[in-house]
Amino acid sequence: MTRKVFNFSPGPALSPEPVLRQAADEMLDWQGTGMSVMEVSHRGKDFMALHARAIADLRELLAIPPNYKVLFMQGGALAENAIVPLNLMGDGGQADYLLTGQWSLKSAREAARYGQVNIVADATGSEGRYTHIPKQTVWKLSREAAYLHLCTSETIEGVEFQGDPIVGRGEHEVSPDVPIVADMSSHILSRVIDVSRYGCIYGGAQKNIGPAGLTFVIVREDLIGRAHRLCPSAFNYQVVADNDSMFNTPPTFGIYLAGLVFEWLKAQGGVAAIEAINIDKARLLYGAIDGSRLYESRVSKQDRSRMNVTFFLRDERLNEAFLADAREAGLMNLKGHRVVGGMRASIYNAMPIEGVRALVAFMRDFEQRRG
Ligand SMILES: Cc1ncc(COP(=O)(O)O)c(C=O)c1O
Repeated sequence: MTRKVFNFSPGPALSPEPVLRQAADEMLDWQGTGMSVMEVSHRGKDFMALHARAIADLRELLAIPPNYKVLFMQGGALAENAIVPLNLMGDGGQADYLLTGQWSLKSAREAARYGQVNIVADATGSEGRYTHIPKQTVWKLSREAAYLHLCTSETIEGVEFQGDPIVGRGEHEVSPDVPIVADMSSHILSRVIDVSRYGCIYGGAQKNIGPAGLTFVIVREDLIGRAHRLCPSAFNYQVVADNDSMFNTPPTFGIYLAGLVFEWLKAQGGVAAIEAINIDKARLLYGAIDGSRLYESRVSKQDRSRMNVTFFLRDERLNEAFLADAREAGLMNLKGHRVVGGMRASIYNAMPIEGVRALVAFMRDFEQRRG
């Protein structure tokens, strides 16, 4: 059986086909155990080895320095919105937040329950829309902040950081004393990043890594052990790290699938290699949008996301017909988020370039017929 459609869902999102095939093949008998991987003990030696390999592969793919821990947690990125301040903000402390879209807004609102939140810049445009990332030179950073929080890829609006923030002692640089915490849910492993610029990187796995239910956290060791006394043990980075992410039963099947995705990514040549393909995919799609009279992107060119390509039909009365015809053509889940409207094509690592070519061909054909 092969896939009949291209799935542009923002998340849960498509997984690489070879990964799904391997998981299907091994479903009833994992590594000759006669059991499914989801049926074996997380403390058994086979699963422990899988777990260690998944972490080692992630470390290799992202070149994570040795003074960082990789934690597998649960609760998704939204739980981390509370877990981060509970671990890093201190009692009655404060933190800086950059607002670039719906997800960073949610993060800031949640953090405000635990301490003082300073908004370093708010990218909301005139119509209440987020369409760009404020330049670092306009951020109003506070030296007293326990950390600076960013969402480096806003899945809903389709804005994305094109590089790591600048850290240093200069006027507009983020002080090395203020760790940067980044929600990278929707672009982790899609581009090369310099992990050492960040104190903590987190996200849900359900976009570029694997199934929903698994959260990844990459945290610098010196930031571990600062949790608020009321932080639940299962959410305390120290407790999770001391127990090798097995304080409670981890999402074993999710970790298994994430491990297969890491192996797949390594076989593709790693993050730099997939980034080159992601650049080509995004260029193809934005080129088709910019080159048409029917479609438009409303995101500043320099901040456009490679992963979540948002676009609008200039004649919005055609939206329903566009989506229906797209489904008919096997191009699924292109509807934009309800807060933004329009269309969104999520083209994560697992989306082959053929999927983008098929979408572009469909868009041209639709414009010719209906535009
Ligand atoms: C950037 C970003 N942050 C946070 C979330 C929320 O993640 P979760 O549903 O895993 O809590 C999402 C989900 O789509 C997201 O895209």
